Amino acid sequence: MNVDDAQVRISELRKKISELSEAYYTKDAPLVEDSEYDLLYRELENLEKEFPELVTKDSPTQKVGGEVLSEFSKVTHEIPMLSMGDVFSFEELEEFDQRTQKNIGKKTDYNVELKIDGLALSLIYENGELIQGSTRGDGTTGEDVTANIMTITDIPKQLTEPLNIEVRGECYMPKLSFKKLNDKRQLEGQAVFANPRNAAAGSLRQLDSNITRSRNLSTFIYTLVDAQKFGVTTQSQAIGYLNKLGFHTNPSSTTINDINEIEDYIQKYQEQRDNLDYGIDGIVLKVNNLNLQQELGNTVKVPRWEIAYKFPPEQSETKILDIEWTMGRTGVLTPTAVMEPVLLAGTTVSRATLHNAEMIKDKDIRIGDFVLLHKAGDIIPEVSKVLKNKRPKNLPETSIPINCPYCDSKLVHLEDEVALRCINPMCPAQIKEGLTHFASRNAMNIDGLGPRIVEQLFSKEMIKDVAGLYKLTFEDLLKLDGFKEKSINNLLTAIRNSKENSLERLLYGLGIRHVGAKAAKLLAEEFINMDNIINASKEEISKINTIGETIADSLQTYFSNLEAQELIKELKEANVNMTYLNSTLNLDNNEHFNGKTVVITGTLEKYKRKELSDQLDSLGAKVTGSVTKNTDILIAGLKAGSKLTKAQSLNIDIIDEDTLDSYLSDSKSAD
Ligand code: IVH
Repeated sequence: MNVDDAQVRISELRKKISELSEAYYTKDAPLVEDSEYDLLYRELENLEKEFPELVTKDSPTQKVGGEVLSEFSKVTHEIPMLSMGDVFSFEELEEFDQRTQKNIGKKTDYNVELKIDGLALSLIYENGELIQGSTRGDGTTGEDVTANIMTITDIPKQLTEPLNIEVRGECYMPKLSFKKLNDKRQLEGQAVFANPRNAAAGSLRQLDSNITRSRNLSTFIYTLVDAQKFGVTTQSQAIGYLNKLGFHTNPSSTTINDINEIEDYIQKYQEQRDNLDYGIDGIVLKVNNLNLQQELGNTVKVPRWEIAYKFPPEQSETKILDIEWTMGRTGVLTPTAVMEPVLLAGTTVSRATLHNAEMIKDKDIRIGDFVLLHKAGDIIPEVSKVLKNKRPKNLPETSIPINCPYCDSKLVHLEDEVALRCINPMCPAQIKEGLTHFASRNAMNIDGLGPRIVEQLFSKEMIKDVAGLYKLTFEDLLKLDGFKEKSINNLLTAIRNSKENSLERLLYGLGIRHVGAKAAKLLAEEFINMDNIINASKEEISKINTIGETIADSLQTYFSNLEAQELIKELKEANVNMTYLNSTLNLDNNEHFNGKTVVITGTLEKYKRKELSDQLDSLGAKVTGSVTKNTDILIAGLKAGSKLTKAQSLNIDIIDEDTLDSYLSDSKSAD
C-alpha cells in the first residue's frame, strides 16, 4: 500500500473506530461485536506502525476512550487509570514475555487472572472508610458515582484496618441478573442491554441509587495503588492483602514461573467459561514483582508490565428458517429467529431472540439467510451478523408486522419504546398469556393449568378472562382433550382452592404493569384489602419503601379502566378472597433455600429452568451457573454431567426432583 492509500484507509478507520467507541464507552450501546472492533483497531495500529508519519495525536490509538457524561461530578485520577495492551494468540504472549525479559535482563514470574467483562472502578478509603467511588472515564477524569457504589453489597464500606488507600477493580453484572434484567426490559418494551458489561455500566451511571441497588452488581478488585507503602512486594501478595482487607478478589488469581504454563491456564478457563456466573473475555498477565513493574513503566497509553490475552469469539454459523412473532402478556410483540440447530459454546441452539423490529432492520436479517451466532454475555444466543455473501438471490426483506398477528389491531410504539405493542386489551394472545400468568406459581398457583390447557379453554370459547375460570364446570372440562374424571376434579379443586389465596397473589396475578411479586406483597401488607388499594392516592402508594411513582401510576391507570373494574367485581362475586392473610406468598424465606446458593443441572421433568430459577430466587436463594465451594445445593435432573461430579467431590448437598418438590411444598404449607 502506498502512503496515499494508507492515508485514505487510516482516515476511514479512525472515523469508524471513533463512532464505535463513542457508542461503546459513552452510550453503553455497542454497535458491533467486540471482536469486530478489535480487528479494525488492529488494522489501524498496523497501518500506523507501517506509516509512522501518519500518526496524529487525535488518533483513537493515542487516546484511552470513554468520555465523561455530564450528569455526574468529575473526579481526577491522580494516578491515571490506563488501559491495557492486548494480544490474540499464544505466540504474541511469548513475544511479550521475551520483550519483558529483554527489558529487565532476566526471567520473571507473572501473576495471572481472568479478564472480567465489566467496567473499571476506583475506590478511595480514608481511615478505612469508603469515601469515594468513581468510574475510569477517559483514564484521567472519571465520574463520581459514590452514592451508587455504596449500594454494591460486596464492596466493603469499612475495611478491617484503618488505612488511607485507593484500590481498583472491575464492576460486573452476574450473568443471571443480566438475563433477568433483559427479560424484564423486553417485557416492558424497553431497549435491552447488549451484554453484561453495558448493563453494568448503565446501572452504575444511574441518577437514582435505588435503581443501581436493584441491579445486583458485584466486583472483583485487582489493584492496590501504591501497594509498596504497605510492605507488599508482589501482585500476588497484593491480592492476598486486598482479600484480608475485605475485598472480593477473583479466585482465578495465581502465579506462573514460566510463560509456557499459560497455555494450560488459558485452556482451563476457556473450557470453564460457560460455567462461570460472570462474563470474561480473556486473561490478564502481570509481571509479579512490583519493583520490576515500576522499572518497566508505561508507554503513552498502556503499562509495559501487563498484557491481556483475549479469547477468540465463540461463533457458529447456521441458517434462519423462520421468524416468529410472539406476544407477551403486556402486549409486547417479540421476534424470534428459528434456525437450523447448531452447537454454540457448549449448547445446541435453534432459536435466538431478535429483541425487536429495529434489530431485524439494522442487521437486515431475512428468512433464508446464513448468519453467525454468538452468546451475548456468554448465555443468550444472538445473531452477530448476516453473511451477506452467502445470501441466496431474491431473498425478500423481512416484513415487519403493522397489525397484531393475533387480533389484527394496529400495532403502536408507546412513548419512546423500541418495542412494538398491541394495545387491544381484548387481544386473544395477550389474554392467553395473562391467564397462564394468573395461574402460575407465584401468582394464584393453580396446579395443572398450563399454557396448553389455557389454549384449549380459550379456543373452545369456554373462558374469555380470568374470572371465567371460576365459572368452569365438570361438563365444560369434559370437552377438553385428554381430560378424565380425576384430572377434571384435580383442576376444579385447584381452581377452588385458589379462591382462598392471600391478596398479594391475586394482585400479582392480575398482571398489572410493573407490579411484580415483591411489589404486590408490599402493597398487600400495607393496604390489607383490594378496595383500599383501589382507593389509595398516588402519594399513599408511592410512600411505601421501594414502590415508586411508576408503580403508583400503573396501578391507577389499571384500576381506572372500566374492564378492570368489571373483572374485580366478577372475581368478588366468585368469592375470590381480596384480603391480606398474613402472607401466603413466601417470597422472603423457605427454610431449605433462604440464603442458599443453588445450582440447577440436568433435565428437569416438571419444571422449566427459568421458572424454577425465578421461584428459588423469590424464596431467598441465589441461583448461579457453576458449582463452586460456595454452592450449598445442587438440583440434579436427568443426565446431569460434570456439575454433578464436581458437587459430589465437594460434598455439596445434591437433591433430585422429588426432594425439590417436597422442599418447595414446605414453603407452600406456610400458607
Ligand atoms: S489490571 C491498566 N486486571 O480490562 C488497567 N484489568 O482492557 C488494567 N480488566 O481497563 C488493570 N479484568 O477494566 C486488570 N483482572 C484484571 C481485569 C482488568 C478486567 C479490565 C480493566 C481494564 C480493561 C482493559
